[in-house]
Parts: sequence; structure tokens; C-alpha cells
Amino acid sequence: MAKPVTSFVCAECGAAHKKWAGRCDACGAWNSITEEKPLAAGPSKQSLGGARGSKIALQDLATPEAPPPRHECGVGELDRVLGGGLVPASALLVGGDPGIGKSTLLLQAAAKFAGAGVPCVYISGEEASAQVRMRAERLGLSDAPVKLAAETNLRDILTTLEAEQPALAIIDSIQTMWLDTVDSAPGSVSQVRAAAHELVTFAKRTGIAVILVGHVTKEGQIAGPRVVEHMVDTVLYFEGERGHQFRILRAVKNRFGPADEIGVFEMTGSGLSEVANPSALFLSERGQPAPGSVVFAGIEGTRPVLTEIQALVAPSPLSNPRRTVVGLDSGRLSTILAVLEARCGIPFAGLDVFLNVAGGMKVTEPAADLAVASALLSAREDVALPADTVVFGEISLSGALRPVGQTENRLKEAAKLGFSTAIAAAGSKVGGSAGLNIRKMSDLTAFVGDVFGAG
Ligand code: TYD
Ligand code: MG
Repeated sequence: MAKPVTSFVCAECGAAHKKWAGRCDACGAWNSITEEKPLAAGPSKQSLGGARGSKIALQDLATPEAPPPRHECGVGELDRVLGGGLVPASALLVGGDPGIGKSTLLLQAAAKFAGAGVPCVYISGEEASAQVRMRAERLGLSDAPVKLAAETNLRDILTTLEAEQPALAIIDSIQTMWLDTVDSAPGSVSQVRAAAHELVTFAKRTGIAVILVGHVTKEGQIAGPRVVEHMVDTVLYFEGERGHQFRILRAVKNRFGPADEIGVFEMTGSGLSEVANPSALFLSERGQPAPGSVVFAGIEGTRPVLTEIQALVAPSPLSNPRRTVVGLDSGRLSTILAVLEARCGIPFAGLDVFLNVAGGMKVTEPAADLAVASALLSAREDVALPADTVVFGEISLSGALRPVGQTENRLKEAAKLGFSTAIAAAGSKVGGSAGLNIRKMSDLTAFVGDVFGAG
């Protein structure tokens, strides 16, 4: 009989290796490979042989199915990110940096759900019940009908949940849970994977929705194997910059709603409060028009969000000038700088460039290209754009400007916030135009000439 082989698994990406190595071939991470004991030889390890299974009932694709029922908690920002409320029997993962406010968010959500008639159990593996209670007191939720426990043994937790039959169970965090059937330390890949698998199958079997909290590594991934993200129905990231009070809950995967949807919250002394109009908040700190500051009309999920993009360009003492980016992709900045140089003859060599999205927002849309280019040019030429102007459009490598989706929504939001001019790519589909004066540009050279009088 073949000897059971131990396998070696990368904690970052979950790839299996035959032997230990200092570096994972699959993802390139160092010191991430750990030894894993094989599963006890059970039926799952043996070939099915000739044994017969039972017959599964097959259905037509056309079988009518009612949309899943949903529980709404009443916090608009959260319900929208969930795709219109919490779906029973679904498994969610909420990831985020330590200290960003995951436990706070989920305790508040638990209280809201419980208050809305959705019985809720909150299990903390990180804090003692007294600590959770203290937090609840600070949040003004002491009287909320949420059931509480501090426990890490998953077998006990599942037994308790099965007896209690809540509609929602919150597990804070998946890295602290352990299963007595798995022979490795809590937080290890095998434990996290096995615990997540148990909890997800438990959710499907019992109809109880389960929310798992997950920590994020320095690289911004949920610690433990990626497979946890594949197992659950919905993955939400809770993000924000330290030093800013804004927090953004972003759906990166959602089997029951749109991905890329965001909810915006503000961290206050008494917990998180929802921000129903993020554009107004992100622009609230904007002062007089200043060189390097440009308002970008973006779309996050299904909703337009206006943000301020700020650039600073200064002569560099370094042979390799600095390129510092916060809230945008640094690769995208390099591309835009290269296009400005190659197509418009505007060099940034010898200049330090700092680029920033105000308020701690992260912008990933290519539609931000033109706003980034405007901020860079405005900083370099020391010319402020008029305060009533928003900018959006994608820049192609040829220097041409491409129209982007949802132009109408962007314009409407800009008009609502009192902007009167929009700079966009020629070819943008503008219907009613919401009363804005729209300056359409076909390429970057025309834009530079028109807006900055250079080129
Ligand atoms: P926490 O929810 O414990 O973060 P996580 O679970 O993601 O690790 O949040 C902790 C931070 O939030 C802490 O730095 C204090 C701050 N905070 C407030 O500003 N106001 C509040 O009402 C609460 C409860 C926490
Ligand atoms: Mg926590």
C-alpha cells in the first residue's frame, strides 16, 4: 500500500508542492510554504470503484425559480453592497486591514439585523465577551437583541448555532477558528480552509447566512488560501486610509448582486455612520481652485461618485525622480506620463510627481485617465482648472480620448453638485446633458491646447 504523502501548501496562494521550498513557484511568495498532513484515508480518498451512487434529479434550465428572499437591515449603504439585502443560506467574507473597523461594522450590522427581526449570533474568536460588550456600549447598542459568545472551537460553535437557529451568524474571525479534526495550528492554511469549508456547507445545509471576517495580508489579500474567496458567495473588502475617517465597503465578488458596488461610511467616536452622498463628502474639503486639483466624475458600482484628484509636480534633486501614488494605479500613472511626453511633447523627466485621490478613495476606472492627465498638467503648468469643471475620459496609447460608459449618470451627479462644465471625450453619448456645458475633446493634444493653451 502506498505510504500517505505529506504535501506542502503555500499559505499565500494555496498551491500544493511535492517538497518544501523557500519560495513558492506559483506565486513567488517567500517563506509561505507549510507542511500539511494528508486527510485521513476516508471514502473521499478512495476511488469510487464500481460502487453506485444515488441518482440526482436533473432540472431544466427553464425551471422557474423565485428570486432569493432577502433580509434588509435598514442601513442603505450595507444593503446595497449586499445586492439588496442579505440572502439566507449565503456565505460572505468581509476582509480588511486590522483596525480598519470590521468588528465595529459587523457588530452594528448585527444589531440592525436583529432589530429588523433577523435573529443574529455574533461569535468573537479574538475578543472576550466583555470587550465586545464594551464596544457595544460605546456604539450605543447595549440593548440590541444580539446573542454573543467568545469561542474558537468550531465544533461547539456549529452545535450551538444548530440549536439556536438564528438567521445570521457572524464569525469574527475565520483565522481564529479551529477544527479538532485538522492537525495544525489555528490560522494555518489547512485550518482556515477546513473551517471555511465547514461554515460554508453549514450555511447551505441549514439556511443560516454566515458572515466570516478575514484579515488581509500586507499584499492586500485575505490571509490564508485564495480558495476561501472561491468558496463563499460574496467577498466584501472594507477599506480606508489610516488618518481618514472614510471607510469604503466594496463588493469584489457577489453571486447575488453586482460586484464593484461600494458603500461609504464615516468612522466617528460612536461607530460607523453611513454616508448617503459620498460625492458631497469627498469634495467637502476642497477649497479655492488650486493648480493640480481636478474633480473626476467617476462611477463606483451602480452609482456616480465625484472625487478630487490632486497632483504635485516639483523639480527633483534625484537622478531617478519620485513617482508617488495614493489611491490610483501607479502603472496607469506611468502610462499617462509616457503618453503626455510622446504624443504631446510634454516631458516630466527631472520632475517629482505625487498623485493622490482626496479622502482615501481608491479609483480603478480607466475613465480617470483624463482627470489624472489634467491634474498633472495643471500642476506642471501651475494653472488651476475652473472650480466648476469635472473631467472624465480614457486615454489610449495613441493619445486619442475614448468615451466611457454611463456618461449621463456622471453628468447628472456633477450637475446635482453644482458643476456647470464637463470635459469629456468626443463621441461620449450625451442625451439630455442635465444642463451642463460639455467640452468634447478628440485627443490629448487638442485637450492640452484647449484647456492649458499649450501643446
Ligand atoms: P475594529 O472594529 O476593532 O477593527 P477590526 O475589527 O477591523 O480590527 O476597529 C477598531 C478601530 O476603530 C479602533 O482604532 C478604534 C476605532 N473606533 C472608532 O473610531 N469609533 C468607534 O466607535 C469604535 C468602536 C472604534
Ligand atoms: Mg476585529
